[in-house]
Amino acid sequence: MRLDVGRQAKRPSHNERMDTSIPVLTIDGPSGSGKGTISRLVAQQLGWHYLDSGALYRAVGVSAGWANLDLADPAALVRCAFDTEIRFRETPTGDLRIIVNGLDATDELRTETAGAAASAIAAIPEVRTALKERQRDFRCAPGLVADGRDMGTVIFPDASVKVFLTASADERAERRYKQLNGKGVPVTLAGLLREILARDARDAQRAVAPLRPAEDAVRIDTTGLGIDHVVDEVLALVGNRRGAQ
Ligand code: DC
Repeated sequence: MRLDVGRQAKRPSHNERMDTSIPVLTIDGPSGSGKGTISRLVAQQLGWHYLDSGALYRAVGVSAGWANLDLADPAALVRCAFDTEIRFRETPTGDLRIIVNGLDATDELRTETAGAAASAIAAIPEVRTALKERQRDFRCAPGLVADGRDMGTVIFPDASVKVFLTASADERAERRYKQLNGKGVPVTLAGLLREILARDARDAQRAVAPLRPAEDAVRIDTTGLGIDHVVDEVLALVGNRRGAQ
């Protein structure tokens, strides 16, 4: 996997960015569907770049919080979306750290508070527009795995392969519980389920780029499936598409 979101040092030229011959695999789905884990593993196997679009929304939400911005002030949030410096860094042990305005905000970004702030600001159309080009900038050779909610529908509608992952709300809450509990974050299963259902509803009902599968997306229900199984299924889709070209 190539992690060079902080590749401000070598920004691609406009032509390079618009090069639609660079393959993109989009993996969309609701929170806890496993898209983060699956996307990273698939990117690793393919040797492609990886875009965690949710982290961008979370980073803007956290940055807005640090600046005491009003979540009801779209103009301030748009400025924040443009100005927030977000870098992804892989540690020697393979951990992904997210640096926001120079500070390691990885742990704060994972909290449900950051998720809720991200979901709220993600409903503002101008914020989504502000982040659009930043997301498209990740399309670099040899390919990109883009993980989010609207990767296949809005950001990369021409992606070569589109996947939409789902899982039951109970299983998603349980996965999140294990993940956060393992990191020592104090949460309850019932609380997480409530938050997941509320966030699903908000993400699905918002007027702009609501959470929905692209028409040409392959849906995979990951309830009860192991990670390796899903990774193999996604890799097979990429392989089939390459074979067909
Ligand atoms: O994937 P995540 O849980 O880290 O995303 C956090 C929030 O950001 C999610 O509730 C909705 C928003 N989001 C979005 O609207 N579009 C994306 N492509 C990614 C995330």
